[in-house]
Amino acid sequence: MSHLHLGIIGCPIRHSLSPVLHTYLLQQNGQEGSYRSFETQPSNLAERVSDLLNSGIRGFNVTIPLKQEILPFLTDISNAAKTIGAVNTVLVHDNRLHGHNTDSSGFMRSLQHSGIEIKQRSAIVLGAGGASRAVIYGLLAEGISEITIANRTLERARNLAVSMGRFFPETAISVCDWNIEKIASHISERALIVNTTSVGMWPDIDKTPFVLPALPAEAIVVDLVYNPLETQFIAQGKSAGASTIDGLNMFIFQGVAAFEIWLGRAAIFDLEVLRNLLLEKLASYE
Ligand SMILES: NC(=O)c1ccc[n+]([C@@H]2O[C@H](COP(=O)([O-])OP(=O)(O)OC[C@H]3O[C@@H](n4cnc5c(N)ncnc54)[C@H](OP(=O)(O)O)[C@@H]3O)[C@@H](O)[C@H]2O)c1
Repeated sequence: MSHLHLGIIGCPIRHSLSPVLHTYLLQQNGQEGSYRSFETQPSNLAERVSDLLNSGIRGFNVTIPLKQEILPFLTDISNAAKTIGAVNTVLVHDNRLHGHNTDSSGFMRSLQHSGIEIKQRSAIVLGAGGASRAVIYGLLAEGISEITIANRTLERARNLAVSMGRFFPETAISVCDWNIEKIASHISERALIVNTTSVGMWPDIDKTPFVLPALPAEAIVVDLVYNPLETQFIAQGKSAGASTIDGLNMFIFQGVAAFEIWLGRAAIFDLEVLRNLLLEKLASYE
């Protein structure tokens, strides 16, 4: 394949780790190409999309705040992205835009990589934004037995439960107030507790959604935030007796899945090398 012209749109993206990830993947897979950041506001999205098409771009990632705004520009959209209602990866083919969501598969692959089998587990998902939708879709599609959504704005959790319930009517999806005593009553022996909110992200590294109660030994605590790698939430999960999974592998796996869509074949990569590269980059911001 000739030069693979790739990039990312969103705002702010100055600190995005995606250029480091994709530059590594291009090199590692012997593919000539480039991956550039295109700072884009919702108000200049139409112009940006048109410029990218004219530039011969093969594909691009879409991040905050454009994951839903991009939808009207797409010729078609994968079933997963349609159900999630958000697109983070666009493939350009014959001047047409094809939308995908790799956050969901990235999350599921990070669980799989840690040896987590989700059947016979119940999940408590904190947050009801775009990342939560992707996580909940992945869990439901892979057969989690039950999901509880807790969100600061309860209405948003309710809407999410109703919209996902239409696609997965066989799974119990409930909502819960943003209150740790109430949330604790939903924590089962084999609970998967996932923080999909942005609470605890740098620079607010002392913040945490909740102080977790003592947890069953088989419980798993996951944080989508990866800057810092060990958030307060992850640290509390460890002290509460659970296994923990940070957000960096999800970030890597969502990026690899996007790259594979653009490349058209499986990508070669070394997870540990990539983690170290990305951690070095994160350290350079502090
Ligand atoms: N690891 C990865 O690959 C990956 C992928 C995607 C996203 N993420 C991370 O996931 C996080 C969420 O992203 P998103 O796209 O879902 O954002 P979003 O759509 O803006 O949703 C933000 C969520 O956080 C909640 N929230 C924000 N501030 C809060 C506070 N002070 N107290 C309680 N809840 C609060 C919001 O609750 P309300 O509804 O009440 O406002 C909402 O549920 C970000 O940190 C992002 O970097 C990581």
